[in-house]
Amino acid sequence: MKKTTLLVAFLLATTSMHLIAQDQRLEQRVDSVLHLMTLQEKIGQLVLYTSDWAVTGPTLNEGYMNDIRNGNCGNIFNAHSVDYVRKLQKIAVNDTRLHIPLLFGYDVIHGYKTIFPIPLAEAATWDLFQIQRAAHVAASEAAAAGVNWTYAPMCDITVDPRWGRVMEGAGEDPYLGSQVAAARVHGFQGMNNNLADTSTVLACVKHFAGYGAPLGGRDYNSVDMSERTFRDVYLPPYEAAIKADAMSVMTAFNSLNDVPCTENKWLLTDVLRNELGFKGLVVSDYNAVEELINHGVAANGKQAAELAINAGMDMDMQSTLYQKHLKQLVEEGKVSMATIDEAVRRVLRVKFMLGLFDNPYLYCNNAREKRVIESPANMKAAYEEAQRSLVLLKNKNNVLPLRKGERLAVIGQLATSSNDLLGAWRADGDTIGVPSLFDELRKYNGSKNTIYAEGCQKEGYSKKGFPAAIAAAQKADKIVLVIGEDCNWTGEAASRANIKVPGVQTDLLAKLTALHKPIVVVLMNGRPLDLSREDTLADAILETWYAGSRGGKAITSVLFGEYNPSGKLPITFPRCVGQIPLFYYEKNTGRPIYLPDPKYKSRYIDCPNTPLFPFGFGLSYTTFHFSDITLSNNKLYPNDSIQASVTVTNTGKREGEEVVQLYIHDLVADVVRPVKQLKGFHKISLQPGESKKVTFTLTPDMLAFYRLNMTYGTEPGKFDLFIGDSSDHVNQTSFTLEK
Ligand code: BGC
Repeated sequence: MKKTTLLVAFLLATTSMHLIAQDQRLEQRVDSVLHLMTLQEKIGQLVLYTSDWAVTGPTLNEGYMNDIRNGNCGNIFNAHSVDYVRKLQKIAVNDTRLHIPLLFGYDVIHGYKTIFPIPLAEAATWDLFQIQRAAHVAASEAAAAGVNWTYAPMCDITVDPRWGRVMEGAGEDPYLGSQVAAARVHGFQGMNNNLADTSTVLACVKHFAGYGAPLGGRDYNSVDMSERTFRDVYLPPYEAAIKADAMSVMTAFNSLNDVPCTENKWLLTDVLRNELGFKGLVVSDYNAVEELINHGVAANGKQAAELAINAGMDMDMQSTLYQKHLKQLVEEGKVSMATIDEAVRRVLRVKFMLGLFDNPYLYCNNAREKRVIESPANMKAAYEEAQRSLVLLKNKNNVLPLRKGERLAVIGQLATSSNDLLGAWRADGDTIGVPSLFDELRKYNGSKNTIYAEGCQKEGYSKKGFPAAIAAAQKADKIVLVIGEDCNWTGEAASRANIKVPGVQTDLLAKLTALHKPIVVVLMNGRPLDLSREDTLADAILETWYAGSRGGKAITSVLFGEYNPSGKLPITFPRCVGQIPLFYYEKNTGRPIYLPDPKYKSRYIDCPNTPLFPFGFGLSYTTFHFSDITLSNNKLYPNDSIQASVTVTNTGKREGEEVVQLYIHDLVADVVRPVKQLKGFHKISLQPGESKKVTFTLTPDMLAFYRLNMTYGTEPGKFDLFIGDSSDHVNQTSFTLEK
C-alpha cells in the first residue's frame, strides 16, 4: 500500500515536472518569436479577418490577401478545404518576413460536413459520451479540411425561447450546461489536450458573457442581471469549459450591466483571467470592437480599440480597428507595449500548441480530407446521437410506435425537407446525400403504404393544400404530421416575439382531427414552442429539433420503435409566450402559489404557473419505477460525503433508457435559493423487468452558492433532496449539512 502511494507520488511528481518543463519550453519558443517582431507585425497577430465568405455580416476587408502578405493579418476565418487553406497559408509562410503561420477559424458548431443534431438537441440526449464524440467527429473533419480553430462551444445559458440562439446552447440549466460544455471542449481539443493532434481543433468558449439573457429575448440586446445570478447561473458553463482547458474565448456582443462585454475589464481580466485562471486568447465577436461606438461607450474607432485591448480583448475579429489604431495608441502611451506583448504571446502560444510552427501545413493533407470527411463511421455517430436526442412529449393510447406496413399519410412541408434537418450553423454541411424524413419513412414502410401530401407550407397562410392532405389522410390508418419552424427561424438574429408553430400548420392539424384517426405530430424546431394547441389536438408528439444529416433515419427508427426514445428536455416548454422567462429553478416568493388564499399570490389569472412540458421531461415506450430514496447518512459533514440511491426498475415490455435526475433545495439560507437545482444525473439502460441501483455521491461543495456577502460557500442547515425522471416528477427525502 505504502509502496503504491510512493509510486503514485513519484509518477505525479515526474509528470508535473515534465509538464513544467514543457511549459517552459513553450514560453521560450513564444518569446523567441516575439523578440524578433516589430510593433506592426505584433499588431498583425491580433487581427482576424474573414476570407471572402461570411455568414453573419458584411465582408469588410476585401483585400485580406494583401493584409496577410504584409503581415497585417495573422489569422483568417471562414476559409476551409485543404487547397484553399494551403493557398492562404503559403502567403503567410512564404511572403511575410517572419513566416508566422495563420490560424484558421470556422464556426464548426454541430458538425463540419457530417452534421449532428443542433446543440440544444445534443443536450437533450443527456449523454455526455455522445456529445463528446460528436464534437470529436466535427473536429476531426474540420481539421482534415485545414481548419484548426472552431468557434464553439456556445456556453450561454438561456431561459428565453424567443432568443434564436437558444438552438446553439445546452438549454437553461447551469449543471447540465457545464457538463455539456466540458464534454464538447474535450471532444474538440481531445482528452489529453494535445492540440497538435490532427484530429483536434482549438475550442472557443462563447459568448463571454451572459449573451443568452438579452432583454425581451431580442438578439444582441442588452443584458441586466445581478452579479449573484450571473455567478450562480450563467458563469458555471463557461467556467467548466475553461477548466476543461479550452484555449480561446469569444466575447459577447451584448453589454452586461451597462458595460459592453468586448471592453469589459471586469469580465475579461478580473473574472476570466484572475479568477478562472484562463491562459488562452480572447477574440472579439464579429465586428464587436467597432460596435462599441453603437453601444455609445466609444466616440470613435480609435477609442473603441483602446478600450477593448486594455480590457484584455486580444484579437479583433473583422472590425479593422486594431490594425488601424493600435500603433498610434502605443505611440501615444494609451496602450502599453506590455499589453500588446501579452496579447501577442497568447496568440503565438496557441499557434505553437497547434503545431503550426513545426508544420504550417499540418492540417492540409488532401488524402486525409478525402478519407475523414463524411466517413461511414462519422455518419453512424450522427445517426446514433440523433436517435438519442429525440424527445417523446406525448403518446396517448400508445399510438407510437408505428407498426411496419400500416398505411401512413405523411403530411407537411418539413417532411420532405433535407435542408431543415441540418439546422442553422451547419458549417460546410449540405443536403447532398441527406435523405428527408419522408424518404426514410417510405424506404422503411414501403412506398405503397406511405403517401405524402404537403398540406401547407411551414410559413404563410395558404390553405390551398388542405383538401389534398385530408384526402390522403382518409386513405391512411395513421397520420404523421410534420410541422415546425424553418431552420433559419432559429440561430443568430432569429428572435421571435411569438413562439407558436408558424403559419397555418396547426390549423391543418385541427382539420385532420375531424377524421378521428390517430395523429402523430413530428416537430422540427430549434426552440421551445408554445404547443398548447397541438397538445390538445395530437395523439402523439415527438420533438425532433433539427436532427442532422441522418435525422430522417433516426426519426424513422424512433417512430417505428427500432429505437426507444430516451431524450429529455434540456429546457422548459412554456404554455404561452407570456410565461417567459419560465425555468424550473425559479426562486420562491413571499406569496407562493401553494398558499390557500385564492387571489393574493404569485400567479397569472389567465394561465397556470406550470409549464406545458417541464425541464428534464421525456417519455419512453416502456415504463420505469423509482424506489424511495435511501441515504447513507442524513447528516452531511464538512469534507465528507453521503450517498443517495434509488432503485430503478423497467416495468414495461421493452428495453429502454432512463435519465435519473438528482435535485436539491436549500430550505433556509441568508439569500433566497432556487426551489430546485439539478446536481447530478445518470443515464441508464434497462431490460424489461430489470432493476438497477443508481447512486449519487453528495459533497458539501455541491451545495455552495454566492452568499449574502458574495463569498462562495455553503451554509449549514436542512436540504430537500429529490430523485426522479424529470424536474417535476420526483421522490423526496431530506438531509442536513452540518457545521
Ligand atoms: C457570431 C459568432 C460567430 C461569429 C463568426 C458572429 O456573428 O455571433 O458566434 O462565431 O459570427 O462567424
